[in-house]
Amino acid sequence: MTSFVHEPRLRRAWHAVARADEVTDASVVAVRVCETDLVVWRAPDGEVVAAPDRCPHREAPLSLGSVRDGVLECAYHGWCFGAGGRCEHIPASGEGSPVPPRAHLAAVRVQERYGLVWACLGDPLGDLPEVPEDRDPAFRRILQPVETWTCAATRMVDNFCDVAHFPWVHTGTFGAAAERRVAPVHLEPLGDWYGWRYEVVADNAGAAVTATGQVSATVERRMSTGFALPFLVRSAIEYPATGLHHVLLLVSTPVDDERSLFTFVVWRNDDHTAPADEATAFDRAIGAEDKAMLERVPGTLPLDATTLVSTQADRASTEWRRRLRAWLAGDPA
Ligand code: FES
Ligand code: FE
Repeated sequence: MTSFVHEPRLRRAWHAVARADEVTDASVVAVRVCETDLVVWRAPDGEVVAAPDRCPHREAPLSLGSVRDGVLECAYHGWCFGAGGRCEHIPASGEGSPVPPRAHLAAVRVQERYGLVWACLGDPLGDLPEVPEDRDPAFRRILQPVETWTCAATRMVDNFCDVAHFPWVHTGTFGAAAERRVAPVHLEPLGDWYGWRYEVVADNAGAAVTATGQVSATVERRMSTGFALPFLVRSAIEYPATGLHHVLLLVSTPVDDERSLFTFVVWRNDDHTAPADEATAFDRAIGAEDKAMLERVPGTLPLDATTLVSTQADRASTEWRRRLRAWLAGDPA
């Protein structure tokens, strides 16, 4: 069976690989994306470099090396790589000796956005979708750790577009009060995203009280959730009682067919009284509930129209799968 992560167009998408504040000019980051090992560091010009984690000399993993003042030194023979992955020094050749043209690293495209470093393994098919709150001074941005989940990125996005699991998977957080019947889903463009608006009643206990800023037993949430191909989901929560907006960017990066990186970014228009860590503790608890379920579901998600049985309640994730299938085949979705 062919591997899903080797789909050619996945190599032309932007994938989050690290938090930008964790990529420095003094340390090396190793990351695997779509079964491609990358070395990532911050060069002396301040730009992030990402390149195959293989030295052009004798193929030692460059991530075994060290970074000093933005220069990556290979651990095997000390070749040095700087801005753009250019080889700047080969110790065995002596100072000032010419560097073979093929000694430079084949750096991949990178960009920093939303506090994350994103890499594209080929020619980008497009740019990242806009999160309007990122430019809005009323909102603060809160980053989270990057985790590895033992599940396919396709399963994660399918889950993030699914509300029918709330009363089953999220009983420990907000789901016990959720309506089991899913109201009709009307999909529409939401800026750069495609999704739907809906309302839920959520349990409001424990860490939720800090996140919502309310003390009632349940809270009303006005929500919109949208996806952007291939694997990004934006979920915006409005608490009408207070006007608080809590926006999540859910980021899934395929490592291979059975493992993925996961992180999320939060924007809140709150008054900053709740420390960032406490304001997002509820989200982390919800994520842990999803992770516990998804890690029990093996393999990639079938994308064809017939293998899985779906109902009206699955409309959003079914549409995401249909569009992903078309996008992978090269159709403008
Ligand atoms: Fe990297 Fe020789 S393998 S310098
Ligand atoms: Fe969930």
